[in-house]
Amino acid sequence: MMTPGAAVETVSVDTLRAREYPLLDAEGHVYLDYTAANLPPLSVMARHADLLRGHLLGNPHSTNPASSLTTTLVERARGAVLRFFNASPEDWVVIFTANATQALKLVGESYPFGPGGEYLLTFDNHNSVNGIREFARARQSPATYIPVVLPDMRVDNAELVRHLDRAKPDGANLFAYPAQSNFSGVQHPLDWIEIAHARGWDVLLDAASFTPTNRLDLDRWQPDFVVQSFYKIFGYPTGVGCLLARRAALSKLRRPWFAGGTISVASVQGDKYYLAEGEAAFEEGTPNYLALPAVEMGLEYIASVGLEAIHRHVNSLTSRLLQGLAALQHPGGVPLARIYGPRSTDRRGGTVTFNFYGPHGRPIDHRDVEQRANAANISLRTGCFCNPGGGEIALGITGTELSSCFHQPEHETHLTIDDFRLCIDGKSTGAVRVSVGLASNPADVDAFLTFAEGFLADRSTP
Ligand SMILES: Cc1ncc(COP(=O)(O)O)c(C=O)c1O
Repeated sequence: MMTPGAAVETVSVDTLRAREYPLLDAEGHVYLDYTAANLPPLSVMARHADLLRGHLLGNPHSTNPASSLTTTLVERARGAVLRFFNASPEDWVVIFTANATQALKLVGESYPFGPGGEYLLTFDNHNSVNGIREFARARQSPATYIPVVLPDMRVDNAELVRHLDRAKPDGANLFAYPAQSNFSGVQHPLDWIEIAHARGWDVLLDAASFTPTNRLDLDRWQPDFVVQSFYKIFGYPTGVGCLLARRAALSKLRRPWFAGGTISVASVQGDKYYLAEGEAAFEEGTPNYLALPAVEMGLEYIASVGLEAIHRHVNSLTSRLLQGLAALQHPGGVPLARIYGPRSTDRRGGTVTFNFYGPHGRPIDHRDVEQRANAANISLRTGCFCNPGGGEIALGITGTELSSCFHQPEHETHLTIDDFRLCIDGKSTGAVRVSVGLASNPADVDAFLTFAEGFLADRSTP
C-alpha cells in the first residue's frame, strides 16, 4: 500500500496492481490513458457486488423499506463526497449527476446570463465547458476566451486580470477554467478564484482532471461551482458525477424546467410548480441509485491508498516520462517529441501531450502513432481530447484558417474530420496524449519510451 508520508516504492505499487488491477500485468497491457479514465479496482467492485447481493434496494423518494435503505446509502455517499472535498454541509451542496458534463449543463442552463453579463473562459477547456457559451449567447451574454501561451500553455496573468477587470457590476459574470488541463496537464492557479471573486465574477471550476491526483480542499478554495466525474478518480462506478455548489451560488441559479424528483408540488390544473430545496431541485429523475453507494466505497479506497501518496507517485512517473521523452533525439540532434505543456513537473499533472517529428522536422501523423501503439498493446489517446482550444494553440491553427474553413458554403452544416484536415493543409490536426495514474509503474513509462524509440530507428519516418 502507498502509505501517506512515505516515498512510493515500486514494490507497493506492484502489490496494488496485483491485488486491484491484475489484468494489467496478466495481459501485458500498458495502460496510459488515466486522464480519460481511471481503472476499476477489484476490491471496490467486490464490495459493491456484496452490497447489492445482500440488500434489497428500491427506487428512493419513498418511505417504503427498500426505498428508505437506498435513501440512506445515497445520503451517505453525499456525506462522503463532502468530506473528500473538505466541504462543510452548511456551505456546500452535492448534486449527483451522470457525469461532469451533466453537472456543467446544469450550471449553463440555470446561470442567470443576460445582457450586461459575460461568460469568460480559458482557451484550455473541455468541450463540455465550451458548450456553456451557447447558453450564454442565447441570453445575450458574450463569451470571451483568454488564450494560453506556448510552450507551457499557461495563461498570462496580466491578461487574465485585464479580462477580469471588465466585469460589469450589475451583470451575471461567470468565469470557467479547469484546475488541471486534460490537454497539457497544466495546473491553472487556484488563487484565480479569489482574484475573480474580488472583481465580481462567479467561478466555475472544472476539477475533472485535477482531483484524481490532487487534493481539492473546498474549505481553502471557494469557487462557486465545481464539477467532477467519479470514474476519473477511482474508475468505478461509471455514470456518476456531481456538481458541488456553494449554497450562496446555488440560490442564483434559475431552473429552466421541472422534472420528477425536483419539485415539492406540481399541478396540472393549477398550472404551477414549486421546486424542492437544495440539491433536490437539480437531481432530475431517478438517480443512479444502485451505483451511488459505490461512490463512498471508491472514496474509501482512495483514502486507503492515500491521495498525497498518489500525487507523489504520479509526479515521479511524470518526471520519468518527461525526461525520457526529452532525451530522445534523431542522430542529427532533432528532438523526437515536441511537448505541448510544461517540461518539468512544476505545477502540472500526469498528462503529457506531444507530437513526434522525423529527423527532418516533419510531423509524424498522430493516427500512425496510435495504430502502432495499439499493435504494441499500449493504450494511449490521440486527437484533441475534446479540448479544441488547447489543440488550436498547440498545433498553431489560427482563427483565420478556421473561419475560412467553416465559412465555405459546403461546410455550412457539415464538416468531416477529413474535410477539416484538408482545410488546415499540412498542419497536424491532433496530438498524442500519454497519461499516468495511481496504478502506473515505472515499467509502463519505460515500455512507452522503448516504443517511442522505435520512431528514431524507423527509416520510414519523414
Ligand atoms: C477536464 C475535463 N472536464 C470535463 C470532462 C467531461 O467529463 P465527462 O465526459 O465524464 O462528463 C472531462 C472528460 O474527459 C475532462 O477531462
